[in-house]
Amino acid sequence: MSSRKNFSLIDLRSLEKTKIDILFSFADQIAAGKSSAIEGFGKTGALLFFEASTRTRMSFETACARLGIHPLRLDGAAGSSLEKGESLEDTVLNVEAMQPSFLVIRTGDDLDLRALSEKIATPILNAGWGKKGHPTQALLDAYTIRKHLGSCAGQKLLIVGDVRHSRVAASHFELAEKLGYEVALCGPKEFLPQLPPCQVFSDLSQGLQWATAAMALRVQMERHDHKYSLTDYREQFGFTQKNLKALSAKALIMHPGPINQGTEMDADVLRDPRCKVLDQVHNGVLVRQSLIHMTMKEVQ
Ligand code: CP
Repeated sequence: MSSRKNFSLIDLRSLEKTKIDILFSFADQIAAGKSSAIEGFGKTGALLFFEASTRTRMSFETACARLGIHPLRLDGAAGSSLEKGESLEDTVLNVEAMQPSFLVIRTGDDLDLRALSEKIATPILNAGWGKKGHPTQALLDAYTIRKHLGSCAGQKLLIVGDVRHSRVAASHFELAEKLGYEVALCGPKEFLPQLPPCQVFSDLSQGLQWATAAMALRVQMERHDHKYSLTDYREQFGFTQKNLKALSAKALIMHPGPINQGTEMDADVLRDPRCKVLDQVHNGVLVRQSLIHMTMKEVQ
C-alpha cells in the first residue's frame, strides 16, 4: 500500500486513512463472523521471520489458515540456507521467485525493506523492522482502542518506558496523526528520544491521569549502555497496581508483548479489568487477516 508499484505495507505514513477505515471495518466483520473465511485456496504467503517472534508470527499464520492460504515459514536461520551464508536479500528474492501472494518479513536493520519493496512486485508486509517500525502492531493497538473506547479520535495514549528502542512507538507516532489520537511519553530520560516528537511526563502518575490508554513497553536492557536498577524502574515507571491507581477506571492498560513481568508490568495487572493485553493479541489476528485480505484484493 505504500508504493505505486505494489501494495507493500512498509510504514504507516503512506497508508491512507480511508484504507485504515476499510481495514478496521473488515476486521469488525471477521470478528462478527460475517466474512467468508476461505478465499486463498491454492495460494501461498511467505512468513519470513529473521528475528524471534511469537505473537506476530503466529497471528499471521492463524490469519493465513483462516483465509485458506498456505504459509511458507522461515523461522530464523536454523534449517535454511542462511546457515550456509546466503544473504537475507537473496533469501527473500528466492522465496519471491516461488510466487507467494505476499511476503511477511520481520528483520533487523541488515535488510532494507523499503528498497526491497521497490525491487520486487510481490507485496511486503512489515512485521517489525529494526527500530524503524512495526505497523501491524500499531494498527492492532489502535483497533483495540477503537473497540473499547469507541473511536481513536480524541484519545490520549501514554507510552511508558523504552521508547528510544521501540519500533512500536515509532509506528504510533505515524498512526496517531492519521487517526486523531494524541501520544505522550513517560520514562527515564535515557529511554526517551533525544528530541521527543510529543509531550513528555517525567512523573508516571501525572501521565496516567492524562491518559485514556496507557501502554508499557518492554525494557530492552540488552540495548542500554547504562544498567538500571530494575527495582527502581518498577517503583517509578512499572505498571503495578499501586502506580495504576492514577489511571481512570475507564482507561485501557496495554502492552505489545513480550512482557518482562515484575519489571515494566506486574503479573497481577493482567487480571485488572482495564487490561487489554490478551485482547490486543486476539485483535492482531483480525487486523492481520483483514490486511492480507485487502492486499490480495488489491493485487488482483
Ligand atoms: N508484539 C510483538 O511483536 O510480539 P512478538 O515479538 O512476539 O511478535
